[in-house]
Amino acid sequence: MLTTAYAPGKSILFGEHAVVYGRPAIAVPVTQVRACAIVEDAPRGQGISIRATDLGLTHRVGARVAANHPSHALQATVVNTLERLGVDRPLDLTLTVSSTVPMARGLGSGAALATAIVRSLADHLGHDLAPQEVSDLVYQTEIIHHGTPSGIDNTVIAFEQPVYFVRDEPMQLLRVRRPFWLAIGDTGMASLTRIAVGDVRTGWAGNPKKYDALFDGIGAIAAAAKNALSSGRIGALGKLMNENQALLQALGVSSPELNRLVAAARDAGAIGAKLCGAGRGGAMLALATAAKAEGVAAELLRAGAVGVIVTQVGGAVTED
Ligand code: MEV
Repeated sequence: MLTTAYAPGKSILFGEHAVVYGRPAIAVPVTQVRACAIVEDAPRGQGISIRATDLGLTHRVGARVAANHPSHALQATVVNTLERLGVDRPLDLTLTVSSTVPMARGLGSGAALATAIVRSLADHLGHDLAPQEVSDLVYQTEIIHHGTPSGIDNTVIAFEQPVYFVRDEPMQLLRVRRPFWLAIGDTGMASLTRIAVGDVRTGWAGNPKKYDALFDGIGAIAAAAKNALSSGRIGALGKLMNENQALLQALGVSSPELNRLVAAARDAGAIGAKLCGAGRGGAMLALATAAKAEGVAAELLRAGAVGVIVTQVGGAVTED
């Protein structure tokens, strides 16, 4: 028997970094890229093995690896999921994982892979996990990847809906009154979440007043963006994105490459643009109308983006 499950990437529209400190943030799934996990029954006595085709690794669950080895998080996801499902007998399974979510680009590659694994195992073993349960399991993997994650990545990916997220509070699905388009540009540089989040923490510890004011500003922008989304004010949304980018620059998490792509997008007619995710590299996003989105994407490629994803958010009125 063979069971396949998928999970999308994600992009943070507003509030990255400040969300770690309890301020609200907004994120959307990005379905143009996805992680895939396939579970197959294996010969008796094999145990559980994980094949990560993109990483070129095959490991048995239980194999000892360093804590920062990619296999560590994959194995932990399997072990945590089986424990949650109450499986206490030995299993013989082969789990094959792959992903088109670019790694270390702020697009949720780790959370997408873990979500696909949780879903595939649950499905294969005949369990139906609610999105919140999937999200909670993936959060455990996010801790391994990032140390002190806010929980926004696992939430938006497990629910596959635009979310308004405040740490340790019940997640709210977002109402998007009018559709809009995002052109997500990849700088080609790695964005290392653990390091960027750690540097912000060091900055905050050294100057809490300054950083708390920046976090407050970003949180207020996310809250205003929620209202702009629910009332369909796309122009206001773009302005808020530009303001958010200025505060992210003040936090020290932008980069020359991100700034260049943000400027190129605005010059090409984007309504607003900012980095998305942990920053320092990784990806940026530009908000555009349907008419402008492809032009903005072409301009991002001309300005040095190594890849661009154009994705639509909304399209029908979503209920709260
Ligand atoms: C990473 O996708 C977003 C950050 O805000 C970290 C987090 O929320 O855990 C930078």
